[in-house]
Amino acid sequence: MGDQKSMMVIGGQWGDEGKGKVVDLLSGSFLAVVRYNGGHNAGHTVRVGERKFALHLVPSGIIHPQTRCYMGAGLVIDPTALLTEIDRLSDEGIEVEGRLCLSPRAAIILPTHRALDLAREDRRGEGKIGTTGRGIGPAYQDIAQRRCLRTWMLATPAKLRDAARDLMLRHNAELVALFGAEEVDVDEALAEVMAAAKRLAPLLREVGPEIRRHVDGGDPILFEGAQGVLLDINWGTYPFVTSSSCLPGFAAASCGVGPGYLGPVLGVMKAYATRVGSGPFPTEDFGPDGDGLRDRGAEYGTTTGRPRRCGWFDVVAARHAIQTAGIDALALTKIDVLDGLKTLKVCVAYEGPGGELVETVPADAELLAEITPRYVDIPGWDGATEGMVSEETLPEGARAYLDFLEDQVGVPVALVSTGPRRDETMARGSSAMARRIAKILSGA
Ligand code: IMP
Repeated sequence: MGDQKSMMVIGGQWGDEGKGKVVDLLSGSFLAVVRYNGGHNAGHTVRVGERKFALHLVPSGIIHPQTRCYMGAGLVIDPTALLTEIDRLSDEGIEVEGRLCLSPRAAIILPTHRALDLAREDRRGEGKIGTTGRGIGPAYQDIAQRRCLRTWMLATPAKLRDAARDLMLRHNAELVALFGAEEVDVDEALAEVMAAAKRLAPLLREVGPEIRRHVDGGDPILFEGAQGVLLDINWGTYPFVTSSSCLPGFAAASCGVGPGYLGPVLGVMKAYATRVGSGPFPTEDFGPDGDGLRDRGAEYGTTTGRPRRCGWFDVVAARHAIQTAGIDALALTKIDVLDGLKTLKVCVAYEGPGGELVETVPADAELLAEITPRYVDIPGWDGATEGMVSEETLPEGARAYLDFLEDQVGVPVALVSTGPRRDETMARGSSAMARRIAKILSGA
């Protein structure tokens, strides 16, 4: 391997940490951005000046005209959703053609996967996961069952048509037999898939060999995770998780490169915590403070528009994410949302139902739901952090908050975001990651 300049950006909480903004602002300095997990369940809002872009599948690097974008084998692709996103970007003047490359080994989400996702959620009743209803789980399930359609088929219409019809008929039988749900109109669904396939086929190209060649040649490559560690299929709050691995290691598996190609890991976390969908969330605040965070932080899902559950920064969960994902440094977003609060709470320990200390996020989600968080109160700060671009100008209280979090989680906070725009960002401290980020932000 040559002079390796790769980097990874992943979510360190329950998704929606602000990865889109972080990837966008870094990606101008990378030759390519690579997405490796999930599907159009992800939602990234990227703001450039007055313009706002909502991305779901296409890597956030697409906004930079010179950055190439790759989508790995570990993704699940809804052809219509991908096409809609590409068309929307083109309407906004963003040229996608020739810059976006899709692995031929990813899985295809069919309209019947969506129907199965919704029917299964409906059946779960009170125990529902709160999925995005995009067919993500059923598609990953079909990969494991070895009956999924893969993206290479987008270029072989006859094979795609036969295989899609066959699988959708099987899905329809399951919809009726298992869930008493309505069948999907297969002819209509097939027409939708075939129309999208024709336009997407030119994007297909093996991702691994290109990435290996770039990294070996010393080109900087950025790997972009979707969702977050606490939604990871193995290490998240199972079963209230997404259906893919959100950890850095999966990037290697998804792209067909060795782990040595990935580079240091920047974990994105909010200065507080949010979650959409169901499942345990120990520091959720059901009172006016939680409502205040939602209002000030505009905490509504990018993909589904659902109000996000809001609460306080959870050091135990953050440490779990940092350790399991090998996060080297943090990017802390939305600190400006905390401006004006008299007191902030930070959870520094978990207490189990019997009063015992619970050291980390337990494997048992039911136990996690019974955790009582132990908080410390941190004084808020006078003045605003909003829009600040330099560490020196931060109010003393905000600096103390960052120092406290860094001390508690054990890795440096190397980037702080003070607003939704690219320029509302600062590098912080003198860690290797902070120096690299400072260089990128200064345009050097
Ligand atoms: P699914 O990924 O649609 O199956 O949903 C499973 C869980 O992951 C639900 O709680 C979703 O709300 C959550 N989820 C999936 N993608 C994202 C994301 O990009 N941000 C935040 N939550 C997500």
